[in-house]
Amino acid sequence: MKTAVVYYSFTGNTHRVAQIIVDILKNKGEDVVPVRIRPLKEETSFFMQCKDAFLAKKPELYKTLLDLKDFDKVILGSPVWAFKPAPAINTYLDKCVLGEGKKAILFVTYGSGTGKKKALEVMKKGIEKKGASVIKALSFQQAEKEKSCREKIEKVL
Ligand SMILES: Cc1cc2nc3c(=O)[nH]c(=O)nc-3n(C[C@H](O)[C@H](O)[C@H](O)COP(=O)(O)O)c2cc1C
Repeated sequence: MKTAVVYYSFTGNTHRVAQIIVDILKNKGEDVVPVRIRPLKEETSFFMQCKDAFLAKKPELYKTLLDLKDFDKVILGSPVWAFKPAPAINTYLDKCVLGEGKKAILFVTYGSGTGKKKALEVMKKGIEKKGASVIKALSFQQAEKEKSCREKIEKVL
């Protein structure tokens, strides 16, 4: 089983969850490739980040792995920004190549929790357009303890 863990993280919370996922898969002996995506131009003001997320902007990304045809499973993670995934995720979903029959697991990290369902819906639509079927969607509060994150992830992997 070969899995790509594709994610964007600005302040590190989504990265932390992605690392736990990678760790669990490695311990199972699976082939796992973490893919942290970054926009060329990173908006740093809260207002601009919300605006770009709300408008579903697609910023140009640093060169990254886009061809996921060789993978069996894709795990896609984003922070919730203004009820949406972070804009880098929109670009990735636009540009990646999956091929038919891929299984996908989605996850978001969030603060208050408002908009987390909506953000996951946007990600679901985007990845289904690429032919993948979403088998699970998880969400993690930004301050969630590692043990709790691990338990949730282990249940679905
Ligand atoms: C621009 C911006 C918008 C956000 N909007 C939401 C939101 O709509 N709902 C929510 O629950 N949290 C929101 N948050 C909190 C983040 O989702 C949360 O801190 C997340 O864990 C950040 O992930 P990261 O550390 O990987 O960047 C927002 C944070 C930022 C910076």
